[in-house]
Amino acid sequence: MEKAIEELHIEKINSIQTLEKCAELLVEAYNAPPWNDNWTKAKALEKLTCFYHSPQFFGWTARQDTHLLGCCVGNIEPYFSGDYFYLKEMFVSVHAQRKGVGFRLMAVLKGYLETVDIQTIILFTSRDVFPFDFYLKNGFREMEGMRMMHAGPTA
Ligand SMILES: CC(C)(COP(=O)(O)OP(=O)(O)OC[C@H]1O[C@@H](n2cnc3c(N)ncnc32)[C@H](O)[C@@H]1OP(=O)(O)O)[C@@H](O)C(=O)NCCC(=O)NCCS
Repeated sequence: MEKAIEELHIEKINSIQTLEKCAELLVEAYNAPPWNDNWTKAKALEKLTCFYHSPQFFGWTARQDTHLLGCCVGNIEPYFSGDYFYLKEMFVSVHAQRKGVGFRLMAVLKGYLETVDIQTIILFTSRDVFPFDFYLKNGFREMEGMRMMHAGPTA
């Protein structure tokens, strides 16, 4: 890992207005390797807004001064054996990656979930890309036997 960013402020997302800047960051992060997606800001904002309106939505931003460097969003979902947090998106500015921003966001998320007695976080990612290693380093494990399925063209 490169030198950690100092003076990083992690804040809970309390206003829908915050999503504008998060959408710009999502576009930057996912249109770059390893995903090389083709997000527009409008579609990114639509997606984040959709999450924001989910029951029990929670999200955090990481910023240095006025610069937004990272974001994670998801929601708590009910489950028979114990509710879990579904981490929908997590992204860090390309120029700020590998400096501990993702780790700090994850630590704040985990800390918060402890306070509300949620013990499980789930997420989807690809096995063949570096975010997979990031999640392994943050204590995640693959769910053996589970497969993501789709009908129609791949999303
Ligand atoms: C995955 C992501 C959120 C991690 O955040 P981060 O702030 O870069 O991560 P950290 O600095 O806390 O952790 C660093 C570790 O993550 C991995 N990693 C993060 N960015 C990387 C990069 N650009 N290239 C290679 N490995 C990377 C490495 O395992 C790294 O450890 P190392 O530097 O010792 O090799 C961030 O890289 C990102 O936004 N990627 C693009 C969007 C994305 O893939 N989101 C997750 C989708 S499931």
